[in-house]
Amino acid sequence: MAVKITDEYIDLLNQAVARELQVSVQYMLQHAKMEKLIRKALPENILLDKTTYDAVGKFLKDFAIQEMKHAGSIMERIYYLGGEATTKATKPTIGNSLSEFAKLGVTAEEEALVLYRKLIEAAVKIGDYETYELFEKIYSDEEAHLFKFQEYTSMQDEYENPSQYVSEWRKVFTDDYFELLNKAAASEISAIVQYTNQHEKASLLTMRKKDTPLEVITEQNKAKVISELLKTIFMQEMEHLEKITERIYLLEGETTSIPAPLPVVGGSTTEFISLGHKAENDAIVLYRKIIEEALKKGDTTTRKIFEEIVMQEEEHYWKFDDYLK
Ligand SMILES: [Fe+2]
Ligand SMILES: [Fe+2]
Ligand SMILES: [Fe+2]
Ligand SMILES: [Fe+2]
Repeated sequence: MAVKITDEYIDLLNQAVARELQVSVQYMLQHAKMEKLIRKALPENILLDKTTYDAVGKFLKDFAIQEMKHAGSIMERIYYLGGEATTKATKPTIGNSLSEFAKLGVTAEEEALVLYRKLIEAAVKIGDYETYELFEKIYSDEEAHLFKFQEYTSMQDEYENPSQYVSEWRKVFTDDYFELLNKAAASEISAIVQYTNQHEKASLLTMRKKDTPLEVITEQNKAKVISELLKTIFMQEMEHLEKITERIYLLEGETTSIPAPLPVVGGSTTEFISLGHKAENDAIVLYRKIIEEALKKGDTTTRKIFEEIVMQEEEHYWKFDDYLK
């Protein structure tokens, strides 16, 4: 490699990854919380509020996906440069109202812009033009995010203090129950980060020499197949996270934004597969427990959400299982 890559440089790139992971989760959880805010719209504002909230809810989800893609491309670059991409996010802050979401968004995007300027400078200095171009592209995305959030920072929220009244039917939603649901949210975040990172790492392995004539002709090898599989799966995990956190917020609970168990990346496609296999297995066990609890509490909606999710986790499990042999 013509350019000299230092540990400090990789560290700077990993700071960028940490930020991207942070905002991805942050925006997805805010998107999920939007459903709850919509229900608090005042009757006289209902049309205006609904339209505003729908619009913000939509772009928050789009941003969340975009930020995860940013995280992915930076991870890919880190692997290409011979470093190890982090799975540790800077801690997300969610907030309780639309104006808070916007303010937090402005802060996060401004911090990102400062860091990415520094990165662009560092990349130019050592002649790493690929990284330079990557961050130029990301930089302009973040700028667009910043402007979008700025449009909403002056918004007045009239519903920042939800009433303290707890109706009878909601009393079944105990702290233990929220804790259990949050275990699910945490495991989804963990899966998203783990699979995104592995997807990028596998895409590097894809570029390596093909081993058999068939691999050369088809331009496919195991790493490529696994890389694509991981991408499909992590997009589905993002949908799961959305559904689970939306439900928690609707029930007036608070959502975790921290992955648990900690994501483990591994070093080869064989490891990616066995780690995924284990993660899916653990998710299935946990989600069955949640389905059982939801059934006991008569919480039909949550039960249905998890029944649907667990079906997909089983599919993931069997896909990994196929490659395990
Ligand atoms: Fe980003
Ligand atoms: Fe952004
Ligand atoms: Fe999932
Ligand atoms: Fe899964």
